[in-house]
Amino acid sequence: MTTKPDTAAALMLLLMLQWPQPLAAHTSGGNGLSGTWEVLLNNSGVVAMHMALTHLNTVIFFDQTSSGRTGYLLHRNSSCSGRRGGGGGGSSEPKNEGNGTKSSSQVKSCWAHSMEYDVATNTLRPLTLRTDTWCSSSSFLRDGTLQQTGGYSSGIRKIRYFRPCSDGRCDWTESPAVLAEGRWYSTSQILPDGGTEGGADRVFILGGLNVFTYEFVPKSHPNETAYELPFLHQTSQRRDKGNNLYPFIHLSSDGNLFIFANRDSILFDYRHNTVLRTFPRLPGSGARNYPSTGSTVLLPLDHTNFFQRVEVMICGGAAVGAYHAALRGRYYQALSSCGRMVITDEKPEWIMEEMPGPRLMSDMLVLPTGNVLIINGATHGCAGWQKAINPVLTPYLYHPNGKPGERFSVLRASIIPRMYHSTALLLSDGRVLVGGSNPYYRYNFSGYPYKTELRMEAFTPYYMRKFFDDKRPMNVVVVGGEEGIRYGEEFVVLFEMERRASTELEFVASAAPFVTHSLSMHQRVLRMECRGIQRLGEVLMSAVVKAPPSPVVAPAGYYLLTVVNGGIPSKSEWVRFLV
Ligand SMILES: *[C@@H]1O[C@H](CO)[C@@H](O)[C@H](O)[C@H]1NC(C)=O
Ligand SMILES: *[C@@H]1O[C@H](CO)[C@@H](O)[C@H](O)[C@H]1NC(C)=O
Ligand SMILES: *[C@@H]1O[C@H](CO)[C@@H](O)[C@H](O)[C@H]1NC(C)=O
Ligand SMILES: *[C@@H]1O[C@H](CO)[C@@H](O)[C@H](O)[C@H]1NC(C)=O
Ligand SMILES: *[C@@H]1O[C@H](CO)[C@@H](O)[C@H](O)[C@H]1NC(C)=O
Repeated sequence: MTTKPDTAAALMLLLMLQWPQPLAAHTSGGNGLSGTWEVLLNNSGVVAMHMALTHLNTVIFFDQTSSGRTGYLLHRNSSCSGRRGGGGGGSSEPKNEGNGTKSSSQVKSCWAHSMEYDVATNTLRPLTLRTDTWCSSSSFLRDGTLQQTGGYSSGIRKIRYFRPCSDGRCDWTESPAVLAEGRWYSTSQILPDGGTEGGADRVFILGGLNVFTYEFVPKSHPNETAYELPFLHQTSQRRDKGNNLYPFIHLSSDGNLFIFANRDSILFDYRHNTVLRTFPRLPGSGARNYPSTGSTVLLPLDHTNFFQRVEVMICGGAAVGAYHAALRGRYYQALSSCGRMVITDEKPEWIMEEMPGPRLMSDMLVLPTGNVLIINGATHGCAGWQKAINPVLTPYLYHPNGKPGERFSVLRASIIPRMYHSTALLLSDGRVLVGGSNPYYRYNFSGYPYKTELRMEAFTPYYMRKFFDDKRPMNVVVVGGEEGIRYGEEFVVLFEMERRASTELEFVASAAPFVTHSLSMHQRVLRMECRGIQRLGEVLMSAVVKAPPSPVVAPAGYYLLTVVNGGIPSKSEWVRFLV
């Protein structure tokens, strides 16, 4: 039924569109535009099941404290648990779907379950988690602190904080406050309204296994509890473990939340607990949320329409009944379709497209170029322990503005399967950090065919190659970026360029997401307005850029600023947007 795009031709077309000068001489040894892979660490110590990049360019990652023995021994004494681990456990799932009241499961592990990875030095520092973070959620607050919520058993109602530091002394802390409900497989979304009145940051936390509510952190008054959201009941397929867990959330330009679960979506006014709009069902069968685990992005918001046009994209997922079939050792082919919808249209509609192949459990990243990288995952089964087979080793690159049918290209393959519990995120140096994969309850290095994976890789997109350096904006400085730029203010970006800038010079801000289970919570990319460019010297350029107008467009906090010259991005610098 579907025609697979000729990816080589698509790539050449892309090439000709973006770079009029011939590149053929530089594409020897395979396709020079397909990117490169490098193993950064052979032992990351901990499976990167959850991952986030801080504004100090360290990556915080963690797994589940209940997994016992990991690849990093903290200390050896008689009080630790988890020594029997050794990769045991196999496929037996724990019976307890606890709610945080089981004190016996307070974890004192001899093994690290969280790490801080320093990108510049390629080194690790172990961190200490007190309670179980398994399948939890997080958001960055405006001061760059990661607020981490929920998890499993002893951790299911916990609120934790990690405030990045440069002296290597910071660690996880736990709040005495707890969540109103147990949140295992829930989604976290930073809200814009904390910022507007100079009040505290406010975070919206949605769903969880057998939990059909949302709540706020912090609470607006001490007695505030969770609020029912019938949509979560309506989209739940109990027989298939929900198919609506880790619901997708995107903050729309009117301040309301787009919430997608299973195949359905709504526009939700969280201030008045009101569903404002029900969108059409995503066409096709199968589901898109855990354990059917597709992925989603918000396509770049653009100043040319005052950041008002909001377009969502969702790709991959699992076939109807995939969970049940996987329990019996049968692995159904994943979905290969993607849907795009402009949620701010008067009559929104899903426009469907086909990826080059079936795919689930992939990560979707909006690159500074505005193209979407689809990476990690498998072709058959669903999410969960040992419930998927056939890794997809090749990333796809999606070109949102390309000719329909020619938007996907297939990039260079990794050698490492990234199955359940793997992650990917963009670093400030332009590389994509890829880690994790553990389809077992415990670490299992003899697992077949997919062992627990402690290797950390970097995927470097083609445009970061030296070959493009003469087009690349270099040594970017955001004047006043560290102290913070106020909404709507103009600020100066200095950079160097050897050659004349192309007519397409873009100034892009990317929020740092929290990544787990193929979901990049709060991933958000904005193309800001450039009010003027001046050449100050032989190579030095100065641009006046206008900050986003409000926290609704860009919730307060740290963003990566990238200067993109005709499709070639600079390395990124952090900028803070303030009320
Ligand atoms: C990882 O191990 C391989 C095989 O032993 C070795 O060739 C490679 O240099 C190692 N890489 C790192 C980053 O340690
Ligand atoms: C074991 O290590 C923990 C954590 O460092 C410590 O609190 C505890 O006192 C140690 N116990 C013994 C018996 O050394
Ligand atoms: C690892 O997983 C395999 C299944 O692939 C299982 O047979 C084996 O028992 C597990 N290993 C350990 C040490 O539990
Ligand atoms: C936790 O579960 C137990 C047993 O099901 C129940 O009695 C208790 O009320 C629950 N606690 C909370 C805080 O949900
Ligand atoms: C919170 O609950 C207490 C005790 O039930 C009650 O006295 C108080 O008025 C409540 N406060 C709010 C803000 O609802």
